[in-house]
Amino acid sequence: MANNDQDQFKKVLSHAKEYGYVFQSSEIYDGLQAVYDYGQNGAELKKNIREYWWQAMTQLNQDIVGIDAAIFMHPTTWKASGHVDAFNDPLIDNKDSKKRYRADVLVEDYCEKHLQKAQKEIDKAAKRFGEDFDPEMYKTTNPRVVGYMKKATEPTARLAELLDKEDLAGVKALIEELGIADPDTGSKNWTDVRQFNLMFGTKIGASADTATDLYLRPETAQGIFVNFLNVQKTGRMKIPFGIAQTGKAFRNEIVARQFIFRQREFEQMEMQYFVKPGTELEWFEVWKEKRMAWHRSLGMGDENYRFHDHEKLAHYANAATDIEFNFPFGFKELEGIHSRTDFDLKAHEEYSGKKLQFFDHEENKSYVPYVLETSIGLDRMFLAVFSNALQDETLEDGSERTVLKIPAVLAPVKAAILPLVKKDGLPEIADEIINELKWSMKVQYDEKDAIGRRYRRQDANGTPYCITVDHDTKEDHAVTVRDRDSMTQERIAIKDLKSYLEQRVSMSEWLKKI
Ligand code: GAP
Repeated sequence: MANNDQDQFKKVLSHAKEYGYVFQSSEIYDGLQAVYDYGQNGAELKKNIREYWWQAMTQLNQDIVGIDAAIFMHPTTWKASGHVDAFNDPLIDNKDSKKRYRADVLVEDYCEKHLQKAQKEIDKAAKRFGEDFDPEMYKTTNPRVVGYMKKATEPTARLAELLDKEDLAGVKALIEELGIADPDTGSKNWTDVRQFNLMFGTKIGASADTATDLYLRPETAQGIFVNFLNVQKTGRMKIPFGIAQTGKAFRNEIVARQFIFRQREFEQMEMQYFVKPGTELEWFEVWKEKRMAWHRSLGMGDENYRFHDHEKLAHYANAATDIEFNFPFGFKELEGIHSRTDFDLKAHEEYSGKKLQFFDHEENKSYVPYVLETSIGLDRMFLAVFSNALQDETLEDGSERTVLKIPAVLAPVKAAILPLVKKDGLPEIADEIINELKWSMKVQYDEKDAIGRRYRRQDANGTPYCITVDHDTKEDHAVTVRDRDSMTQERIAIKDLKSYLEQRVSMSEWLKKI
């Protein structure tokens, strides 16, 4: 991470805590690694993201319904899904620092570092050569950039090959060959690479001898697969159709860093779209576009998203891509879109002995549908929104402000109602406004401190609108509405206030942008 990115990331962490967005779990006991709690603002932001996803899936698409499956599932589920045998990460320890890392992440970070070096050279050359500069040509002809690009791409391909063959000694040899050192201490004294299953085990039942081993689900998707037929039959769904779900998932992650980006307890928003075999690659393209349109509708900068198509596919997938977001620590996976073939339903058929098929009346035959999956981490989306929103600005008069430009539809508090003074009947008018608005949005009363300080506080809190009740309000029955991002102010009649705000903050208006 470059220094300024590191500074930005530190600011994200401290701002998230200071403004009641994210707290370390069990902080009074010194916290629990890679587990976080969401505070009064964080819980609202998270709920709004979840709702924006849920409505986009289940309300805008007639062929998608939502479910809420249990976290505990029959243990055979995880045998069938392949998680018992293959949900592993390759881990490596540094003998000097005693720190544990994911071997694949060490190699990926090495590649990313060289990609950034190449980009820096390209940016420098673009400045030097001006308009005629051709970055693609430069990438293939400038020896230094060619060298960096080689180091940015070759190790990833070799790593994928080694992991595919389960050649863990080869992975260690690759780390040594690349000269990768412990990022914290610089030591290159590594242990062998070992596989580590990421599922958390637990038990259900009262007595030790009758208790059954269970797992906390590592993904929500399996709750959808095992309910495929229940939903299809009771909902009288016809292929193609989708099932959406949001909920907690648990993974015993080895590398627990980057704040809420990689946690041991997190939330997923997944949708499985069941299609006729042979049509899955068309649907894959459809869902790539649909999901990108959802992201772009939030206005967080189209340049901050990119697709990263998987070169090496999992054995059950015939196409896969990630939507990557430009986090403070670089472009990283935010969402996965996978064409999972009929792997999961077939496996559950085999292990349960129950048919999980669809009878296609047009074709007059039954088949196991193919599945397109879209899977996004809610906490990762939270981090994308929050880190993108946090900005320090220098204003025209030279003063500074910290502002959290969260898309208004997701903001925890939509408007702050501020009586200019605590007397002369202004708080009472503010109360009346709150009583009018509270039925359709979350608003907050704030009367403490000078108005300028209150504006700054609401800016830092991410509140998109401040509504000031002043002495003129008593005469003209209007208020001043200040926009968080542009800081422009408008006089709006109290009777028009609700519709003015709804047009700007309501979910239905934002969903129309997708
Ligand atoms: N059903 C497919 C599946 O679970 P995945 O790529 O392992 O695929 C999907 O996870 C998404 O879940 C990721 O793109 C990421 O946003 C989120 N995710 C995965 N592991 C996570 C973790 N430890 N902490 C936070 N989010 C995570």
